[in-house]
Order: sequence, then structure tokens, then C-alpha cells
Amino acid sequence: MKVSIIGGGGRVGSDAAYALQLGGIVREIALVDMNKDLADGEALDLRHGAALCGNQVFTSNSEYDVVDGSDCVVITAGLRRKPDESRLELVNRNVSLFKGILDSLKGCKLNAGATILVVSNPVDILTMLAAQSGIVPESQVLGLGTVLDTCRFRSLLADHFKVGARDVSALILGEHGDSMVPILSSATIGGVSLASINGYSDEAVTGVFDFTRKSGAEVIRLKGGAGRAVGVSIKEVVENIALNTEAVLPVSSVQHGTLGISNIALSLPTKVGRRGAHEVLTPAVSEAEREGLLKSAKSLSDVFSSLT
Ligand code: LAC
Repeated sequence: MKVSIIGGGGRVGSDAAYALQLGGIVREIALVDMNKDLADGEALDLRHGAALCGNQVFTSNSEYDVVDGSDCVVITAGLRRKPDESRLELVNRNVSLFKGILDSLKGCKLNAGATILVVSNPVDILTMLAAQSGIVPESQVLGLGTVLDTCRFRSLLADHFKVGARDVSALILGEHGDSMVPILSSATIGGVSLASINGYSDEAVTGVFDFTRKSGAEVIRLKGGAGRAVGVSIKEVVENIALNTEAVLPVSSVQHGTLGISNIALSLPTKVGRRGAHEVLTPAVSEAEREGLLKSAKSLSDVFSSLT
């Protein structure tokens, strides 16, 4: 499987490439970046590690020729928000840049069944644009969506309850942005309902969620931009595509009626495999959670319709 990363010289793109190198599942990684030196430098640095990691091939360029033959294209390029800015506020600055990337991808020869994974923000809006671009069929376009927020939430809940993070099942769905919704009604630790675990209180868990929601901005404030957790989140989606696992992940995709949400991309539990989004599952949610998701959909639809 060949994966191309657009924006591969940037923080998110290069952390994703490194995570994919350590994962060892994909065979070839192409890095495209407007800054050719950065793309070439990252590719060379990764290539240097091949002897201790795996038999992978790294290519790079500022042009899109290296994308030909890709099975998956990950788009991370774009401007980063300021710590006090919402992801949706980036829309005006990133949409035209993103349309330019889609135009360049139209000229590439992607392999049959190729998938596109959108990471740039506002991710749900840009996922919608990529899905409408016709480069690949709509179901083959995914957004990283709340895979990242869910990863952060599980990890921070694990800290709070002092348990292994892999044992925490707690979803965040909806927009990857201010209107994201924690699905606490079905959260468990090792199969035990969250509410019955020592250390549970509504306030404590709401506090962990609030910190999760603001965590991306906090990382920007502290170190200039997020990279590591987003890199491993991208790896999780790409490797499940590569291995055709049907893993159920909260990726963003264009919705067609689940929970009454249509014609906008946002995150719901989705079976992910070689052809992208294979099926969206209907999560069991409380009435308040459902309302939160409908609100999230409406806020994204309002922004999206203001663009077109
Ligand atoms: C974040 C960016 C990737 O949440 O949206 O860190």
C-alpha cells in the first residue's frame, strides 16, 4: 500500500509519516510539501531509519508527481489556527488552499479504490468539499474527525481513573470542533459502565471532557501545534484502511440519515476498510446527546452552505 501525505513536511504530516514508519504496515510513503526542502529532509530522515524499522520506501517532492500510484492520500496541509481561534474560523483561510490541493490531486493517477483522508481544518467542512470533488467516490473520502478527540478523551479519562488507556471506551462524536459531543451514556472501562467506577462523578468527567475539547488549543499554546496524538490517530485510520479490518472508528464522512443527520460530513461510528467508509453504525445515545449531535450537524451545515 502506498500512502501520500500532502503537507508531509509540516508538523502533523511528518508526525503521521513517522507513526506510519513505526507501524510498519504501509510499504511506501510519499511526502508532498510546498516547501521542497522540508519534504525532502523529512523523507531522508525517515529513510535513514529504515534499517531499524522496516523495508519501506520514502519519496518526496513539492510537485504532485510522487502521488501517482497512491492507494491512500492524507491531506494535512493548511494553515494552523491561533490558540484563541476556533477550527471553524479557519474556514476562509483554508478553503481556497484546499481547493487548490484538490485541483492538483485531480491530475494524479490514484490506484483503483483509493481513499482520501482529510486532516486539515475545519476537517468536517473540508471532508465535504473533498467528497464533492469527485476525485474518488464519496464513501472513499474520510475525515480524521473525532478520532483524535476520542483518543485524547480516552487517554485523559485513563489518567483520571488510573487505568490503562486502551481499556477506556468513550466516544466523542459530531464536529471535530467546539460542538463535539461526548457520548457518556455508553462509556465503559474494561466493559464496566463508567458511572459505576470509583472516582466517577458527573463534574469530574465533565471536567475531563472540557479539558479534552480545549486540549488541541492548549497544545498549540504550549508547543506551537499538535503533532504526536494526531500522528498516531492518522496511523490508526490509515492502517485499518490498509488491512481492511472493518474497525469501527469515529471518522468523519458524508452522512445520509443516521440519527436524522444528512448532507454534511461529521463523525459517527463507522466501519473502516479498504474502500473507506463501509458502513455508518447508529450509536445508542441519550436524548441530550442526540440533540447535541443535531446541533453539531446544524452548525457545520450553516458554515458549509455559506461557502457555496
Ligand atoms: C487538533 C487539530 C489537529 O485538534 O485540530 O489538535
